[in-house]
Parts: sequence; C-alpha cells; structure tokens
Amino acid sequence: MTAIRLIFISQAGNTRSFVNKLVAYAKTQPEQLTFEAVEVTELTPDRSENDPYFAFVPTYLDGGNGIDNGVKEILTTPLRDYLTYADNQAQLLGIIGSGNKNFNAQYILTARRYASNLHVPLIGDYELRGNERDVARIYRLIKDRLATSNS
Ligand SMILES: Cc1cc2nc3c(=O)[nH]c(=O)nc-3n(C[C@H](O)[C@H](O)[C@H](O)COP(=O)(O)O)c2cc1C
Repeated sequence: MTAIRLIFISQAGNTRSFVNKLVAYAKTQPEQLTFEAVEVTELTPDRSENDPYFAFVPTYLDGGNGIDNGVKEILTTPLRDYLTYADNQAQLLGIIGSGNKNFNAQYILTARRYASNLHVPLIGDYELRGNERDVARIYRLIKDRLATSNS
C-alpha cells in the first residue's frame, strides 16, 4: 500500500516531533498503515499530491485575540500555499491542528481556518508536542477518516 503522507510545517520542532512519533506508532499497530512524514519546506512548491494525505498545522498568529482581531498568519504560509497549489486540496483528507491553549480563542485557529477555507474536516488537535495518548488518539482519528473516505 502507498504510504500516506503526513505533510507538516514546523518552526520550533513540536510538529515535527509529533508527526515522527505518529509514523513510529503506526508501525506498532495491527492495521499496517504506513505513514510518511513530509516537511513542506522540503517539497518543491509545484509538486502535486496524487494520493490521499493529511496536513499537520501548528498556529503562529501575530498578536490579537482570535475573536475580533488576531488572524494574521505568520510562518505557516508555505504550508497554506502548498495545500492550495493546483489540485492538492482535492486529495487532502483532513487537518490536524496544534497550538497552545494559553492562546484561548486563538487556540489552533490556523487549522480551523484552513479546514473552513479548504472545506476539509479538522479531524483532531493536540497541544505543543502532544503526549503518547495524543499520538494514539490522532492515529485512531486518521484511521477512522481513511475508513470513511474509502466507503
Ligand atoms: C509567535 C508565536 C505565536 C503563536 N500563536 C499561537 C496562536 O495564536 N494559537 C495557538 O494555539 N498557538 C500559538 N502558538 C503556539 C504554537 O502553535 C505551538 O508552540 C506549536 O506547537 C508550534 O509548533 P512547531 O514547534 O512545530 O513550530 C504560537 C507560538 C509562537 C512562538
């Protein structure tokens, strides 16, 4: 089976760490799903996604409170550009958001906005690097999403 690409961007390493843990966790599970961690900054901007994939979106917003302001996205725009390039959006099965709950209403706001703008489900979220329970939970959510997309 083709590896399912988990496409992400990571400035401080939290998302990279989480996605790598998920790739390792999948190898221990009976479903034999193969995940491949793909950092968007290593892709050429005009690459096309031909198979179903997931996107991992951390939040970097420039100030504000997420309610009446604070939606100026910084640092994650290469991921947005990639997801919206050509038909890439058509193969995107779901978005997993991450952030820090100290940001209150802005928690995972970038992922929520991507999901809404790209018409793709936000299938889960976790804080910072996540923990083992988060890895198992997000794995299950991805597995369920794959099952519904195949039915
Ligand atoms: C400048 C800056 C702005 C941030 N803004 C938000 C925010 O608005 N909402 C949120 O949930 N998390 C916010 N975070 C937290 C990051 O999303 C979180 O630390 C994430 O795990 C970073 O992922 P990375 O280490 O893969 O880059 C912000 C962090 C920084 C450094």
